[in-house]
Amino acid sequence: MNLNEIREAESQLLVHTYERSPILFVRGDGVHLYDENGTAYLDMLSGIGVSALGYGHPAIQAAIDAQSRKLLHISNLFYHEGQAELAARLTKMTGLDRVFFCNSGTEAFEAALKLARAHAALLRSEGRKIGTKILALEHSFHGRSMGAVSTTHKLKYREPFAPTMPDVEFVRFDDVADLEAKFSDDVCAICIEPVQGEGGIRPVSKEFFAAARRLTAQSGALLIADEIQSGMGRTGKWCAYQHYGILPDITTLAKPLGGGIPIGAMLCTNEAARAFTPGLHGTTFGGGPLACAVAIAVIDTMERDNLLAHIQEIGKYFLDQLNALAVRHAAIVDVRGLGLMVGAELSSADLAKSAVAEMMDRHILINRTSETVLRFLPPFVIGREHVDETVRALDEILSSATASATSTATTIPVPQGVSG
Ligand SMILES: Cc1ncc(COP(=O)(O)O)c(C=O)c1O
Repeated sequence: MNLNEIREAESQLLVHTYERSPILFVRGDGVHLYDENGTAYLDMLSGIGVSALGYGHPAIQAAIDAQSRKLLHISNLFYHEGQAELAARLTKMTGLDRVFFCNSGTEAFEAALKLARAHAALLRSEGRKIGTKILALEHSFHGRSMGAVSTTHKLKYREPFAPTMPDVEFVRFDDVADLEAKFSDDVCAICIEPVQGEGGIRPVSKEFFAAARRLTAQSGALLIADEIQSGMGRTGKWCAYQHYGILPDITTLAKPLGGGIPIGAMLCTNEAARAFTPGLHGTTFGGGPLACAVAIAVIDTMERDNLLAHIQEIGKYFLDQLNALAVRHAAIVDVRGLGLMVGAELSSADLAKSAVAEMMDRHILINRTSETVLRFLPPFVIGREHVDETVRALDEILSSATASATSTATTIPVPQGVSG
C-alpha cells in the first residue's frame, strides 16, 4: 500500500486517537528516518523521546537477534535470565532498591499510584495516621490509564472520563506555599516530573522539590518522581532528580529504556515495596526476555560510549546555540532544558505551530508542546552538526516569519498538542 492507500485504510479501520503527519517512514539509520521515496529526515524527536541510540544501532540489532533465537516470552510465572540483571543495573543507576517491570510509561506510573495507595493502607494497618490523597502538579502529564490520567492536569485529557480517580488535588507548579497548604496527613503521595515534558520542558525548582521531599519524609507519604520522559540519561544523568541531590521513594522509567522496544519500570524503596505482595499487582508481558535483553544492551552501550557525558556536552551546546538565537529573535521568549530535553518557547502558539511545520518541510522532525514550546528530544547520539542544522533551519524560519509576518509557507500539516 502507498501512503494514500494507507491513510484511506487507517481512516476507516483505526480508532481515531492520533492525527498523523502525512509521511510514510519505512526505515531509519543513525539519527535519520527515511520515507518511502528515500528522503531523509533528521529526527530531533526520537519518537517522543524513545529511540535513544537512534535507528539500526548494532547493539540493539545484536540483542534482538540473539534473544529472539533463545526466548521471547514466558510470563512472570517463571524465571528468565533478564530481569535480575536489568534490575541490578537499574537499582544501581537510580539509587532505589527494587523494580517492577511493565510495558509502558503509563503502566509504570499506574503501578506507582497503586503502590502509594497500598503503602498508605499498610501504614494505617500499622497504626499510622495517613490518608489516600494524591498531590500532582499543574501542567503535569503522567499517562492515559484511569489512574494516570486522573493525575494529569490538562482538563481535556480528563473531562470525558469523569468521574476520574477521587482524592487527587493539583498544586500550582513551583509554588511551595500552595504545596504546604495542600499537604497534610491525608496525603499518601506527591507526584513530580523533575522536568515537565508535555507541560513545556519546565525543570521544577530546587526549593519546590526539596519541600516535597521534606514534607513526605516527615509524614510517611511517598515522593514519586516521574522520569518517564526525563530519565534514562535524557538530562545527562540517569535520572533528572540526581541533578537536585534528592532521592524519591518511587521513580518511573520507560521511553528510552528499551531503545524502541516497549518496556517500563517502576522502582521503589524497600520500605514502599513492602506494600505489594504476590497477586496485588502484575502484568503478563512486563519485563519479558526480549525487552530486558534490549534494555541491558542500551545501558551497556550508554556506559561504553560514555553517553551521559556526551548528552551533557551536546545538550549545553544546543542550549547555548538556542540562547544565541534568542538574542537575535524576539520571537524566542525563553529557552529551557537539561541535557537533551530542550524547549524553545515562542511568542505565540500560531508561530510555534507553523515553525514545527516548516521544520518538517526542511526534513527536520520536532514537535510543539504546551501550545507555544518547540520541543527537542533527539536521540542521545546526535552530534554538533545535527544541532547546527536544526538551529540554522530555525534561524531561517524565524527570520522569514519576521520579514513577512503575513507569509504563509506551504507546509505539511502537523498534528499538534498530542502527547505521548
Ligand atoms: C512524564 C510522562 N509520564 C508518563 C507518560 C506516559 O508514557 P506512555 O506514553 O509510555 O504510556 C509520558 C508520555 O509522554 C510522560 O512524558
